[in-house]
Amino acid sequence: MKKVIFSLVLGVGMLASANASAGDAQAGKAKAATCAACHGANGIGTADMYPNLAGQHADYIVKQLKAFKDGSRKDPLMSPMAAPLSDADMADLGAYFASMNASGETAAADAGASATAVAAAPAAPKIVPDAAAGKHLYEMGDEARGITACIGCHGKDGDSLVLINPNLSNQHPEYIEKQLNHFKDGSRDNASMNQVSMNLSEQDIADLGAYFKDPEVKAVAKASGSKSVPVIVSGDVDKGKALSGTCVACHGTDGNALIAMYPKIAGQHEEYITNQLMDFKSGERADPVMAGMVAALSEEDMKNLASYFASQKMTEGSGTDNDKGRKLYLSGDASRGITACTACHGFDGSGMAKAGFPSVANQHVDYLKAQLTKFRSQDRANDSNKMMRNIAVRLKDEDIEALAQYMSSL
Ligand code: HEC
Ligand code: HEC
Ligand code: HEC
Ligand code: HEC
Repeated sequence: MKKVIFSLVLGVGMLASANASAGDAQAGKAKAATCAACHGANGIGTADMYPNLAGQHADYIVKQLKAFKDGSRKDPLMSPMAAPLSDADMADLGAYFASMNASGETAAADAGASATAVAAAPAAPKIVPDAAAGKHLYEMGDEARGITACIGCHGKDGDSLVLINPNLSNQHPEYIEKQLNHFKDGSRDNASMNQVSMNLSEQDIADLGAYFKDPEVKAVAKASGSKSVPVIVSGDVDKGKALSGTCVACHGTDGNALIAMYPKIAGQHEEYITNQLMDFKSGERADPVMAGMVAALSEEDMKNLASYFASQKMTEGSGTDNDKGRKLYLSGDASRGITACTACHGFDGSGMAKAGFPSVANQHVDYLKAQLTKFRSQDRANDSNKMMRNIAVRLKDEDIEALAQYMSSL
């Protein structure tokens, strides 16, 4: 619950500050007259190929207009539209479209009308889109095929809280599909999205479009969004509890370590805990203290311990939310080659169990700092494909401090 309220406050706060710093919506209205032919007087695209701009983040709109102008995003219709715009024009236009109501009703009504307008569109290929599969892919990704979940960057049901990541929730499904194809074939250039869409099949793209088209699937997604789902574990919790006596001294009775240098392991993902214990035993993750603790444990013991700790609940963290940490966590820093943490650890810090991405929310600040520092110095080197080391080497001390505080506050 804390997280839900927190994200709402965060979202509203960011929107408010964006509006304050951005252009003049009234001036933007006058300048938008030329845009209406395609994007609609109400910001709702007049045909499926024209994206909705109503309610889109101002920052995102400005970034796209700049990209069309400098040629890094190419489109025969938009490039000439953006060419004469000054920075101030772009800011005003962004402010204007962002100030519009993006209500689903308006969008749905218009989408219906536009569907008739382009009724002569070529027949769809022989793919049956599956909205539920699209939702699953959106929320979970597909590790086996190297597809990152979309939810971390674009938010629950496409309501992105990060201003530089576009909202997808109010967008035409056809437009979403078209953009995914552009990212995939490289004709639209964005490092995150080119990578994400590289492995999407035609079927995936159709499924994702269908997900955004289907209000019922989205409603279900919203309802199941609560995090109070009971943890399902595969090992024997009682046996794990019996073995946990030796862990208490450092990790606390139920896995909630009281001393900040020891990680909390309550509520951490089962697979992740098992993997770490195996890595301590093999020496792949080097720690003299933990190596001694696991030396006598069998693989089954480790699984049972993991099941026990995974089924406990982590206590709240004591970190403080801060702009620097939040920005790096949610958006990364493309200029320094730092991937957004949210892509793997989730926007709420809960990670992704199946993919082996640990939960980082509520963890002790000191422990988080220690781990980022160890990844940076390569003293911790058990992350597959150097996923964490490649990111950590680009972090400065002050980044680590800000990130650790932010993650602990999630
Ligand atoms: C002749 C039709 C046309 C006009 C007029 C037009 N646009 Fe566009 N716009 C498009 C098309 C088509 C795209 C999608 C390009 C693509 O597929 O990448 C687009 C994309 C955009 C995007 C990116 C949206 C996203 O979700 O990524 C923005 C922002 C935008 N237009 C703003 C404007 C503004 C502001 C004006 C007026 C100054 C304008 N457009 C005028 C056709 C038009
Ligand atoms: C690491 C963060 C990240 C992930 C993960 C991600 N996206 Fe994106 N996405 C972005 C960013 C950033 C942009 C804006 C690109 C730009 O500025 O041109 C974007 C743009 C898009 C757009 C174009 C929107 C528009 O209005 O033009 C679509 C559609 C999209 N993403 C769909 C997806 C889908 C579907 C997935 C999952 C399969 C996904 N994204 C995963 C960051 C991400
Ligand atoms: C004497 C103190 C001590 C005891 C007892 C101890 N641990 Fe640890 N544990 C640590 C320390 C210190 C670390 C962090 C090591 C590092 O910095 O990489 C750690 C790390 C871990 C991690 C990795 C957590 C993460 O988020 O990556 C797991 C899992 C773990 N311990 C489980 C256990 C289990 C299960 C037991 C009992 C069998 C146990 N520990 C007993 C001190 C201890
Ligand atoms: C490409 C995916 C990916 C990205 C992006 C990513 N991480 Fe990680 N992170 C991982 C994986 C995988 C692990 C676990 C490695 C292992 O198995 O030991 C991890 C582990 C961690 C840990 C240690 C957790 C623990 O309990 O010991 C911290 C802290 C962390 N990441 C923070 C971050 C921060 C901060 C960022 C952004 C600057 C980030 N990560 C970006 C994949 C990622």
